[in-house]
Amino acid sequence: MSSPSSVSHFQTLVMSFHGVIVIETVEEERVRSLINTAINDMQLAVFEWSIAQGLTRAQGNIHNRWTNEYAPPEKQPPQAIGKTAEPLDMLRHIETMAYPAIYWLKDLARHLDDAVVARQMREVVQQFSQSRSTLVLTGHSITLPPDLAQEVVYFDLKLPQPEELYQTISEVVRSLRGKIKVEIQPDGINALVQAMRGMTLQQARKVIAYAALHDSKLSADDVNRVLQRKVQVLHEDGLLDYIPAEMNPAQLGGFEGLKNWLTRARVGFGAQAKAFNLPPPRGILIVGIQGCGKSLAAKTIARTWSMPLLKLDAGRLYDKYIGESEKNFRRAVTLAETMAPAVLWIDEIEKGFGQSDNDNDGGLSRRLFGSFLTWLQEKSEQVFVVATANDLTRIPPELLRKGRFDEIFFVDLPNEVERAAIVQIHLRRRKQDPQRFNLADLVQVTDGFSGAEIEQVVITALYRAIHEQRPVDTDLIVEEVKATVPLSISRREDLHRLRTMAQERFVSVK
Ligand SMILES: Nc1ncnc2c1ncn2[C@@H]1O[C@H](COP(=O)(O)OP(=O)(O)OP(=O)(O)O)[C@@H](O)[C@H]1O
Ligand SMILES: [Mg+2]
Repeated sequence: MSSPSSVSHFQTLVMSFHGVIVIETVEEERVRSLINTAINDMQLAVFEWSIAQGLTRAQGNIHNRWTNEYAPPEKQPPQAIGKTAEPLDMLRHIETMAYPAIYWLKDLARHLDDAVVARQMREVVQQFSQSRSTLVLTGHSITLPPDLAQEVVYFDLKLPQPEELYQTISEVVRSLRGKIKVEIQPDGINALVQAMRGMTLQQARKVIAYAALHDSKLSADDVNRVLQRKVQVLHEDGLLDYIPAEMNPAQLGGFEGLKNWLTRARVGFGAQAKAFNLPPPRGILIVGIQGCGKSLAAKTIARTWSMPLLKLDAGRLYDKYIGESEKNFRRAVTLAETMAPAVLWIDEIEKGFGQSDNDNDGGLSRRLFGSFLTWLQEKSEQVFVVATANDLTRIPPELLRKGRFDEIFFVDLPNEVERAAIVQIHLRRRKQDPQRFNLADLVQVTDGFSGAEIEQVVITALYRAIHEQRPVDTDLIVEEVKATVPLSISRREDLHRLRTMAQERFVSVK
């Protein structure tokens, strides 16, 4: 089943003399269904090729039956035409075939490293650009030699739509009849479909079958199982890390200003805001001093909003092939959109989209940055972006302009109240009762310490206590504090510069 708009887009490409249509996918049954639906009213034959089967005439659909000597429809599997298993033989054969057809060539791209095959392909393509015949290339990530790359058009086989996923559930249930009980209401099925978004049909089918067979029934509980499996599928992709709300224990001391802002912003995700056609909040940027809880704040937002947290590793977007990095970025944000509502966390954004020190990347980081800005501006799904940054000088100024992010926050070293909160969080986390400590003393001696540095002195004091076989107390922690030179002293100049630059332009998190 393919959506009518994608079918008609595909038909238009075929009719407008495109010699090659590239579809990057491994979902061959969806390609088959797309082609079959498209040729319904086009009077085109369909041929398929793979290196294993050679070139075969495909059966087509019921409206477009055919017979010929090579592969009568009853005959399974169809027989290969002549000697066409080798890519070169196949392309030469196609060049001689006179009637208009779609030639679906599976995984051919990897054979185009061979100069003769690539040349033969170009000759076919040139011939097809004046006829109604079209080559359709499919495969996992397709990279073409440059001279061919100019001749092709990419067709984006969108991820399965809810109706397709719905149908997949029915198919699986039907195929497992007698083996499983179906104990799920329409609401539950909708939740299942929602959970399956972002998966290919093959993945979805396996996941549903697994969830149903696991306890011999399909029930509302399976939504969690499906989500869990989707996490693993996402993880294999490597670009995004997924942290479900219930596995995110982040606790943030201070940041009251940010926390208030977030409480207000949350309204933007509600039904009332939607009814007024208000756009949902886009995202924020948190700039500031090392170890002061920027990353922690990102995690805390997802936790307090009970949304899954998706961490985008911008460094992993880069790919040596032209265009691949942008494609990686698209893939990552498309996946993020299928998890909506979700928080997309881009840590240290200057490393991914920032200005590089040299211009060796041929403008790649610029282009990626452009893709990011466009997406940020236009995204419609409820994906809230939390970007963090340390180094203001490497952030392109466009990003800091009003209206890109909903707000830009600046994080400074924690003040007294915040230090008290942070000390208590870290004592409790290590199973120490804060009441046994002189908090006022600890707050005073940690003046100039970042949250990370406070956590570190608590940890080293505890190590020492274990080593010396005595309970940890205020004195022990104070000793560790005195033995530490915080960044606010060792890198005073840098901090000063960042602070003066940020303070007057951005909102404080406090
Ligand atoms: N406000 C805070 N409340 C509680 N813990 C904090 C706070 N600030 C920092 N910490 C502790 O310090 C650790 C490091 O903080 P985090 O990684 O969030 O800092 P960051 O600002 O992202 O630093 P960097 O710039 O180095 O990435 C946290 O895991 C947490 O344990
Ligand atoms: Mg960080």
